[in-house]
Amino acid sequence: MCGIVGYAGAPDLDASALDVILDGLRRMEYRGYDSAGVALLTPEGLVARKRSGKLARLLQSLHDDPLPRSNTGIGHTRWATHGAPTDANAHPHLAAAGRIALVHNGIIENFAALRAQLRDEAGIEFVSETDTEVAAHLLAQAHAACGDLSRAMQDVARRLEGAFTLLAVHADVPDTVVGARRNSPLVVGLGEGANFLGSDVAAFIGHTRRAVELGQDQVVTITPSTVTITDFHGNTAPGREYAVDWDAAAAEKGGFPNFMAKEINEQPRAVADTLRGRTDGEGHLTLDELRIDESVLRGINKIVVVACGTAAYAGMVAKYAIEHWCRIPVEVELAHEFRYRDPVVDSRTLVVAISQSGETMDTIMAVRHAREQGSRVIAICNTRGSTIPRESDAALYTHAGPEIAVASTKAFLAQITACYLLGLYLAQLRGNKYHDEIAAILADLRTMPGAIQKVLEGLEQVRTMARWMADTRSVLFLGRHVGFPVAMEGALKLKELAYIHAEGFAAGELKHGPIALIEPGQPVFVIVPSPRGKDSLHNKVVSSIQEINARGARTIVIAEDGDDEVLPFASEVIRIPQVPTLMAPLVSVVPLQVFACELATAKGLDVDQPRNLAKSVTVE
Ligand code: AGP
Repeated sequence: MCGIVGYAGAPDLDASALDVILDGLRRMEYRGYDSAGVALLTPEGLVARKRSGKLARLLQSLHDDPLPRSNTGIGHTRWATHGAPTDANAHPHLAAAGRIALVHNGIIENFAALRAQLRDEAGIEFVSETDTEVAAHLLAQAHAACGDLSRAMQDVARRLEGAFTLLAVHADVPDTVVGARRNSPLVVGLGEGANFLGSDVAAFIGHTRRAVELGQDQVVTITPSTVTITDFHGNTAPGREYAVDWDAAAAEKGGFPNFMAKEINEQPRAVADTLRGRTDGEGHLTLDELRIDESVLRGINKIVVVACGTAAYAGMVAKYAIEHWCRIPVEVELAHEFRYRDPVVDSRTLVVAISQSGETMDTIMAVRHAREQGSRVIAICNTRGSTIPRESDAALYTHAGPEIAVASTKAFLAQITACYLLGLYLAQLRGNKYHDEIAAILADLRTMPGAIQKVLEGLEQVRTMARWMADTRSVLFLGRHVGFPVAMEGALKLKELAYIHAEGFAAGELKHGPIALIEPGQPVFVIVPSPRGKDSLHNKVVSSIQEINARGARTIVIAEDGDDEVLPFASEVIRIPQVPTLMAPLVSVVPLQVFACELATAKGLDVDQPRNLAKSVTVE
């Protein structure tokens, strides 16, 4: 997820395009901060500057070596998806001998084929590893053919697959910025003598609250006095104007009260983007970030997951799926315990290091130990260029976008999704699953963003309950099978956000001791497996609910639509959609995230930066 800004202002306005663009990039830096860049149309032609690292590095460069004044330009702050965060991979990308500059937010799924075509047929020599540079050269070709920048953007947009928001300027088209969007956000800001484009309203909230929402597959052209919207075929399309009712601070959170709430609501997108672009034209999984020889992967006889906290719970969920699909034993190890127990790992062990930040020292040390033992390591990570993928043999990136809140939410769902992709890739490679079986599971996975969105739209009951329970001092979480790690994650969320004692455990463990904790009124969340799932597991969990209900517990049951067997024993029922057994964690965890967030909010706590915690624990 990146932040992009476009500006076209009347030359006689006392406004510098660079100042407007940098102001917008500052407000959107939360969307990505691997690198940043700007391109301006000036009397001296198109000029561009870009730097890897945070926006401050670009600002320093612009201070030391200023650009000419301009009234039109584009800007970008990057969250790397293709290509490490380097100066060369930073946006904007140039084409037509520097006469075109383009920035991009999203993932162009068919960029590899287009890149090869440009290289082979037009002799284009690429200077970056990005999918974005392909779009820049395509735009140059299209503009050379038709001579109209808007029409050229329409032609290019029709050729691209995946998710993209593109903005471009051309040295020969003054006072003009052209944009296109598909499956990626772009909004217009309407000013006086100036117009704006941005990934979200934070791009221009400091200058105008009048916005125009763009629809799917649309091209927009702004000048200081006009806004023209068409579809990808040039047909005029309407834009819906609205007044932004957020202030500048809220705008950086997309109108949500905090980053935690924003990121919970970004989960459908995080799962969809993590799935995006992972199959070839025949539907075969192509995890091109994996650089481990297929023969090695065919030869592994054990998988060990090393991770901490929420990432470890994602690994616990993945264990059930990977063992079921690949028939390989999967151990999940807390990274900080791993190397001190003298683990049995060797060249036939595949170690999977899961980490949102890629900088968790416990996990880094586990990776180093595993490699010293001759094991191959795959990193599942949300941060390109971070230490863990860099020190691994291969990486499979989640595309959840920057996760700002300390308590992990969208990264958890993206990690599960990426682990499932790895499991299916291994099943495909090792022949455990037929192509059609894998395709069917992928098709189910692609329905999950919609299922998650459905849960997000029905959580007022959970919020109300959380506010009622603000004085609660202890909450238990029960789950079984893939619901067990969800119970652990639900407890962790409540601990780290609301500072309440919470414990998650396997429902089957209840009668082996924890049931002694049950007293009248004790709140217990129970994640109930699907009655359509593994034989009799559902009934066993319903029995657990009966046991604690009989002892006066307040049973808050998460059960799928239509499961009425839980009703006699549930104090509250939170409904989730019917989804495949192994995918249930992607929906059952959401009410627990929202419950913890809402209860912490009701207690007046800082949900984005809870006490004593850090987003990345870079010490052992
Ligand atoms: C999760 O809400 C916590 N912030 C914490 O457990 C976190 O998941 C853990 O520290 C691992 O971080 P990583 O994914 O960046 O390695």
